[in-house]
Amino acid sequence: MYQELRSQYERRVDSRNASSIEPRDAVAEIEQDVTYRFFAWLERHLQRMKYSSRYGIVPYHAAQRDRLMQEAGFALNDEYTPTVDDKFPLPKYYKSMDVHQHEGGLWSDMSAGFAYEYGARTTTPLISDSHEDLHNRFTALVAGDRDFKQILDLGCGFGKSTRPFVNLFPGARVEAVDLSAPCLYVASHFARQGQTPNVHYSQQDARETRFDDESFDLVTSTMLLHELPVKSILSLFEESFRLLQPGGPMAHLDFHILPDEFDRLMHYGHARRNNEIFMPGIVELDLPKTLTEIGFRDISIERFKENEDMDLETHDAWRFPWTTISASKPS
Ligand SMILES: C[S@@+](CC[C@H](N)C(=O)[O-])C[C@H]1O[C@@H](n2cnc3c(N)ncnc32)[C@H](O)[C@@H]1O
Repeated sequence: MYQELRSQYERRVDSRNASSIEPRDAVAEIEQDVTYRFFAWLERHLQRMKYSSRYGIVPYHAAQRDRLMQEAGFALNDEYTPTVDDKFPLPKYYKSMDVHQHEGGLWSDMSAGFAYEYGARTTTPLISDSHEDLHNRFTALVAGDRDFKQILDLGCGFGKSTRPFVNLFPGARVEAVDLSAPCLYVASHFARQGQTPNVHYSQQDARETRFDDESFDLVTSTMLLHELPVKSILSLFEESFRLLQPGGPMAHLDFHILPDEFDRLMHYGHARRNNEIFMPGIVELDLPKTLTEIGFRDISIERFKENEDMDLETHDAWRFPWTTISASKPS
């Protein structure tokens, strides 16, 4: 249906001479179409049902909470146990909505990490293998031929973005932080299963961590920035600057470049329909100016080829194109 909507948009723009219809007018027309409205309804309500219906992901995992926690070693106290705090102050923006329509968010129930992990596997069912590949490709791109020794992954979730760094740099100390204790326990469980003690998961706010100045030679995040209000994105960049050693790079994978008005329509519509209301913030931020003002150099903002088959011109593999945002602290 998404492809059909894009074709409708392109036909509208192509079939008239350029002076008679602007891309944004074509978008305004599409918004009135039955196909778009049907698409929007499905986007909202299939996700809602996926998470919260009687047989949805959230009730399914909540009903098995105790067994899952036991199997995943939540009660263990070993080198893999995450550092969490029952009284950790979660920011208001984080608790203000059920992000992704995940009922109760990622924080209010100890089964939430399992539910999120399962949900993430079903987000792109037709390209699931290549979606997994996305995290590895981003890691390889960030790494290049460099060797990092102290790596920080901000907003690590259940560790999907952390594991590729842990595996690629077995000699590094990898710290990974998230606000969600349930996710951190799941991430630690995977580390225990994979026997990778070089990673430590802790409950911390990416905008203001407890690490010392200049503790890391790489600061990274994957799919975190679009979940933050703009002010918090700025705090996160400032915090990254503080934490980096001189010359160290930071690299984020997130939304920013939207090739045309149609992408914008779908992106902003998704933000409303999927309870991700901050999504437009990172798209509209003047990144070169913001990062330069903080002190970063070597700023690079590029479209990301998330799998081998993806054509950056048509990006028909997945409707939200990712962008790599990288910069370095001066030496
Ligand atoms: C879309 S998930 C991405 C998770 C992971 N990086 C991945 O690629 O699978 C965003 C994560 O950011 C976390 N998060 C949101 N705000 C945060 C903050 N201020 N500090 C740390 N983590 C945060 C959420 O709990 C969630 O786990």
